[in-house]
Amino acid sequence: MAIKIDGKQISAQVKDECRDRVAKEGLDITLAVIQVGNDPASTVYVGNKKKACEYIGIHSLAYELAEDTSEEELLELVEKLNADEKVNGILVQLPLPAHINEDKVIQTISPEKDVDGFHPQSVGALSIGQPGFVSCTPAGVIQLLKRSGITIDGKECVIIGRSNIVGKPMAMLMLRENATVTVCHSHTANLKEVAKRADILIVAIGKPKFITRDYVKEGAVVIDVGIHRNENNKLCGDVDFDDVEPVASAITPVPGGVGPMTIAMLMNNCVEAKGIRKA
Ligand code: GUN
Repeated sequence: MAIKIDGKQISAQVKDECRDRVAKEGLDITLAVIQVGNDPASTVYVGNKKKACEYIGIHSLAYELAEDTSEEELLELVEKLNADEKVNGILVQLPLPAHINEDKVIQTISPEKDVDGFHPQSVGALSIGQPGFVSCTPAGVIQLLKRSGITIDGKECVIIGRSNIVGKPMAMLMLRENATVTVCHSHTANLKEVAKRADILIVAIGKPKFITRDYVKEGAVVIDVGIHRNENNKLCGDVDFDDVEPVASAITPVPGGVGPMTIAMLMNNCVEAKGIRKA
């Protein structure tokens, strides 16, 4: 029987630490959240981010822009928020409508306010071990492992998925923690054999219940970054939990594993943002 890594509890711990720091140090923090259009999933995520801000004592500014907002208008808003001393963090909810170039928008956010950690400067800083904001989901995975007492140093880590938001920064973070890291993707030959080398297997491929016990070494730690709704409208991950759980030593459930960590780490990034004034 694997230990179930409790993302709900660990995310609550991280948020409480943020809340205590804001109160004790009297921090006056403002996060600007921009949503373009009304994609229902984005509306839920943005709502959860606002709620977390309220809990921690961070001011949030919500910009709800129409679907047909031009790229120029959005870039102007980002520039205005970059220049606004009261704003410590800027988050543009993705995906953006197809007529807006996401890369251009991300590159316009000041790296000092890039609490999502998506700016090329933040990504570059992470890869050369310099200080900077780190993408929230992979940063959350590190916290899940550390706070569950799982040693990363010297371990074989296999990451399945190479996205800019999860797979690549995850690899950099695991390297920083002295793991030996392999990144797999859709062209990887013998994926099962490679995955089976992992002491820590991190899965972010976006395919429901793709990873069965055939991919998992006995006693491995399995982290599931995926989230999907199955045919019965129930949430599930990239890992077939019931099949894998008996062979793993520790595993994250979906829901209640990696998911809640993303917002907790966003809050942590806001608290770490530069130029915070005392209230
Ligand atoms: N869309 C889905 N996840 C995220 C995230 O972490 N940040 C932003 N900005 N958009 C997202």
